[in-house]
Amino acid sequence: MNIKELKSVAQSIVAKQKGVLAADESGSTIKKRFDSIKLESTEENRRRYREILFTTDGIERYIGGVIFFDETLRQTARDGTPFAKLLSNRGIVPGIKVDKGAKALALYPGDKVTEGLDGLRERLAEYKQLGAKFAKWRAVIDINDADLPSDYAIRANAHALARYAALCQEADIVPIVEPEVLMDGAHGIERCETVTARVLEEVFTELDAHRVTFEGMLLKPNMVIAGKKCTRQAGVMQVAEATVRCLTRYVPAAVPGIVFLSGGQSAEDATDHLNAINAMGPHPWQVSFSYGRALQAPVLAAWKGQESNAAAAQQAFYTRCYLNGLARDGKYTRTMEAA
Ligand code: 13P
Repeated sequence: MNIKELKSVAQSIVAKQKGVLAADESGSTIKKRFDSIKLESTEENRRRYREILFTTDGIERYIGGVIFFDETLRQTARDGTPFAKLLSNRGIVPGIKVDKGAKALALYPGDKVTEGLDGLRERLAEYKQLGAKFAKWRAVIDINDADLPSDYAIRANAHALARYAALCQEADIVPIVEPEVLMDGAHGIERCETVTARVLEEVFTELDAHRVTFEGMLLKPNMVIAGKKCTRQAGVMQVAEATVRCLTRYVPAAVPGIVFLSGGQSAEDATDHLNAINAMGPHPWQVSFSYGRALQAPVLAAWKGQESNAAAAQQAFYTRCYLNGLARDGKYTRTMEAA
């Protein structure tokens, strides 16, 4: 294991103003996204869509890494350049989603556990050959006000995350460790904080037991936020304070960066929350984004699957990158959205 290289890759992904574009939608997820703009999910449409994102001018100032799905890592731009090479040529680190999705946890109704450890060592070796320098594994923690998640589901998911992270570091690939407490449901922000705290506590206990070097990883957590159906939605400052309190208590200072998922927040809310969290700094870690929907929803809406809208789609993408880059420094304000 080359700790120096792991550290340097992790730090470059979350360098000043930079964050991650999560473009690793699985086949079924990208189909859902394309359905929303009435576009068929063919291999060429998926390729073209990703090409629009990756060739947007100037994004290398704000995007330090891009997470691919398996298919995309094997695809090329129109001129034949592999996407991974196209990005590394621009100073953006290519990464790969390696989990195989969340499945029902047997005998624990409502809980999930993420699969994908079998054969992972061999898959990581191939992904490395294809240019991936970091990887992602997403654990899904379902939450309600009563019995979800079970403590067993938290332990099972933390254990799988740690086994994945250790395999990554063995292969000199930076693991992004993603324990996602879902935003779905009617629970309040307090319940989200309690569950997120317990999840992070368990995840770092397992990472430590599996000998994962904290300096050579990134954490991708949810923000602490009320469930979407909760009638008491928390304000921006309340979200920022609860999130910072939770992370400060449970994330070791040795971790170079925390890159939040957006989890279904609007693009504006995700930027606003990131901004407020950074404005409360300095923090021991870089605090940034690894957004999927919050970076891409405006792009899909502008593109609509039509070539004549490609430039407008790239403009929409650049705007989100730029605004989240400002939020990295606590310099974003909501009024910039209209500009
Ligand atoms: P969202 O930002 O849309 O939640 O996606 C991030 C991600 O990569 C989830 O695994």
